[in-house]
Amino acid sequence: MTAIDTILNRKSIRRFLPTQVPKELIEKVLALASRAPSGTNVQPWKVYVLQGEVRNNFCAEIKAAFLSGSDEYKSEFNYFPAKFKEPFLGRRRKIGFDLYGLVGIEKGDKERMKAQHARNFDFFDAPVGLIFTIDKGFGQGSYLDCGMLMQNVMLTAKAEGLDTCPQGAFAPYHTIIRKHLGASEEETILCAMSLGYADPAAPENSLETERAPLSDFVTFLG
Ligand SMILES: Cc1cc2nc3c(=O)[nH]c(=O)nc-3n(C[C@H](O)[C@H](O)[C@H](O)COP(=O)(O)O)c2cc1C
Repeated sequence: MTAIDTILNRKSIRRFLPTQVPKELIEKVLALASRAPSGTNVQPWKVYVLQGEVRNNFCAEIKAAFLSGSDEYKSEFNYFPAKFKEPFLGRRRKIGFDLYGLVGIEKGDKERMKAQHARNFDFFDAPVGLIFTIDKGFGQGSYLDCGMLMQNVMLTAKAEGLDTCPQGAFAPYHTIIRKHLGASEEETILCAMSLGYADPAAPENSLETERAPLSDFVTFLG
């Protein structure tokens, strides 16, 4: 695959096969991904690879916390705006409606929407869950570095026949996550990612997302 093929073929996968991913392949993906740039090459990230019983126990506790509906779980950092405005609101709604449509969830069916969201916490059945953290001493600028690492993971995985889904959904559960990882209070739990082999028969994996035309977001000056 060329770099362009890899970019065009990557997409978020939300149902994985139970096929295990060899450790050597995970290591290869992460080693290649770590070629990501970072400001002054500080490489402020850490990656935790969850598999087997550790993964299962991790998922079970976080899923239970989500299903409890408790409001005690809050992200350590702001991701989305407090109030969405256009054109972002429309884009956000579209992916929700498109995904729910593919899996047969009707508008307003809150129970099934919640169950679909809960699938995040099973890593969409992927056998491998990745957690990305950065040292708390670093500011928001360093989140860029980790985003580049994550993009490299997704593209390298794709080039190696694997698929991924980046998952901000885990962020509110950082206290539980930290405990399972054995991570220190000095790490910000930034994002999770499912890693595995896509289930080609799953309707949710046929979701194709659009992108705005250049004229909507590019300004040529000079
Ligand atoms: C930082 C980040 C967090 C995301 N969090 C979630 C998530 O929690 N659950 C989910 O299903 N998708 C999540 N996504 C996937 C986006 O919905 C997806 O990237 C977007 O709709 C574009 O689709 P594509 O990845 O298939 O191109 C996340 C993506 C990014 C970049």
